[in-house]
Amino acid sequence: MKGKAHPSNDLTINPSGNESIFDVIGRVDLSRRRFVQGSASAGMLVAAGGLTLSGIVNTVEAAENFPVGIGFSSIPASLASLGAVADRVTVPAGYTAAALVSWGDPIMPGGVAFKADASNTAAEQMKQYGMHTDGMHFFPFSSRGQLSNDRGILCANNEYTHEEILFTDGQVGAGYTIEKCRKSQSAHGVSIAEIRRVNNKWTVVQNSPFGRRLTSNTPMRLSGPAAGHALVKSKEYSITPAGSVATGSLTDGFAVNGTINNCANGITPWGTYLTCEENWNGNFGSTAPIPPAASGETGKLFNRYGITASGNGYRWHTVDPRFDVAQNPNEPNLFGWVVEVDPFDPAHKPVKRTALGRFKHESAQYVVDSAGNLAFYLGDDERNEYIYKFVCAGKYNPSNRGANRDLLDTGTLYVARFDPNLKGTWLPLLPTTVGVNGVLLRDNPDFAGVNDAEVLAKILIKTRMAADAVGATMMDRPEWTGARPRVNGYKEIEVYCTLTNNNRRGTTTASSNNPDGSTAAASARPPVDTANPREDNIYGHIIRWREDGETVLATEFTWDIFVQCGDTATTKKPKPTNDYKGDIVDNPDGSADIGAPDGLWFDWFGRLWVQTDQVGDGSGDWVNIGANSLSCADPETKEFRRFLTGPNKCEVTGITMTPDGKTLFVGIQHPGEDATAANPTQFSNWPASQWATRADGVTPLPGGRPRAGVVVITRDDGGIIGA
Ligand code: FEO
Ligand code: CA
Ligand code: CA
Repeated sequence: MKGKAHPSNDLTINPSGNESIFDVIGRVDLSRRRFVQGSASAGMLVAAGGLTLSGIVNTVEAAENFPVGIGFSSIPASLASLGAVADRVTVPAGYTAAALVSWGDPIMPGGVAFKADASNTAAEQMKQYGMHTDGMHFFPFSSRGQLSNDRGILCANNEYTHEEILFTDGQVGAGYTIEKCRKSQSAHGVSIAEIRRVNNKWTVVQNSPFGRRLTSNTPMRLSGPAAGHALVKSKEYSITPAGSVATGSLTDGFAVNGTINNCANGITPWGTYLTCEENWNGNFGSTAPIPPAASGETGKLFNRYGITASGNGYRWHTVDPRFDVAQNPNEPNLFGWVVEVDPFDPAHKPVKRTALGRFKHESAQYVVDSAGNLAFYLGDDERNEYIYKFVCAGKYNPSNRGANRDLLDTGTLYVARFDPNLKGTWLPLLPTTVGVNGVLLRDNPDFAGVNDAEVLAKILIKTRMAADAVGATMMDRPEWTGARPRVNGYKEIEVYCTLTNNNRRGTTTASSNNPDGSTAAASARPPVDTANPREDNIYGHIIRWREDGETVLATEFTWDIFVQCGDTATTKKPKPTNDYKGDIVDNPDGSADIGAPDGLWFDWFGRLWVQTDQVGDGSGDWVNIGANSLSCADPETKEFRRFLTGPNKCEVTGITMTPDGKTLFVGIQHPGEDATAANPTQFSNWPASQWATRADGVTPLPGGRPRAGVVVITRDDGGIIGA
């Protein structure tokens, strides 16, 4: 189905009818060489056409030849029984995988090549692909109404850094310096690279004007209801390579520097990229004892969001006072948001959209319903946290990109309650909502304000505490959300969410997140419930729900569990509510078992792709499941088939494809995790262990240390991936 009447089900191409920037490029720019002259070119070409960027919407939700089935045979698990899982990416026969881009590859003007001994400087890292790739999206270029399958912009998150691999001498070797801190900060964030296929080989376009890095220090702005509030005013610093020096002023509550722990992602129907800040708390530390939860607003926030003195082992706070909460206690409030950036405008200042709430955001899946209402489905990835929905107040305008620019600033954030009768309720997080203690949120001291605007600002900054107050359902670590395409007569708004695991579920002594917001992050031990039915849920499950009335405005939904993951052949001693086997539909039984589902994405053809994040070396509970993997599932039959296995000790995360479905991009994160600087290849030397060159067939792939990166997968007969 195709056409303006179904904007969310369509190959949406420049619906304004105006000439797009790429039409202008095609007309004005006579040669590729001229186009790549520099970042000014893109802007000049916009001006040359007399256009704004409002003419471009390059998103795809469903294909005309929907649906296609699953046509490949499941590949075997990559097991450790031979000593270690294979240090390679394996795909089905008839497919070819190649290394597109890895940590350290230059992606923007002035970028220099990766040095295999990790001696690239912080300044060099700022122009190279970041570390530990995660969620991503391919934004195809378009020309005269056609989306390109050969050229576009790849936006990819760089979630975190493995500092033993990032630095030649490891994290502390000869000492921890501001140079190391800046390199680590520059390896976080988002990598935006132009990629194209030339002579059937994919490559990163060197020196592209679209090449860009967002790092932990990139200037951004806060918008929406919480912007400008006192809690998001922080110490202002002059940030240079040599250090961060306090100016003596406070920020205005609208300015913010950087994005961190960018896990999964989303897009908007108007063709912008959403990057989601997940374990940002771990990048902070403290040079003084952390204030206890009972000491006041700051201590309570730190407790509920998991701010600790040592964080996740980063040492940024020891050399960069901006990340020392002892000096700068409001700085964490500037993180934990969904950040919107326009990949087609290299000068766009990214915007943190506070209306979507503050937590450990995993991903942001949008749905436009048949009336043009727009919602985003959001998970908070920590044990016992919640699933959310943000409904925009305004409708999506498919014919005027500019009209959507600030849609994410106004609307209602809801949190999900899953009831035992397989119904559920979206609980609005508004000043007028009554908490489970009978008190309106506006009268709850945690959200006290001079007016409802301030109450709402506090609700959004303290989203977890607001969700506690209204009685949301504690889930088994909500990871990615994905929406089933609505085409070919399928009209349900059906959204899926991976619940990756929860080893505290059903353990003793039972406890729940306190309605007063006083629970330390991940500390509760909730009893099993219908939506999270297994104690010691180490293998995780996937839940799904359908909005009542086929509208994203629904406040009620129907839900069920799509699949419980597990190991069919496990010898683990069963528990009363968990035999650890799961109920994956595969043939033969057990042949496509997975655990710890994380990445989840529907392709344009209606198939569900699931990526996993467990230890990745086939040890312990994963002896029969093996390496992390990418599977393809049929949402109707629930059948799973294993499509890809990853290298040793990696996580498979991040997935996107070209509009024709014939090129698939998959992220491989942290191969060789846990290696030390003294022996960086102890567990993995991927991708050099697999290939001599990049996908371009020319650029050498030096070994010496494992490198997270993106693989590009094509079918040897040129067909649709997975069909
Ligand atoms: Fe970064 Fe929840 O995975
Ligand atoms: Ca994830
Ligand atoms: Ca995960």
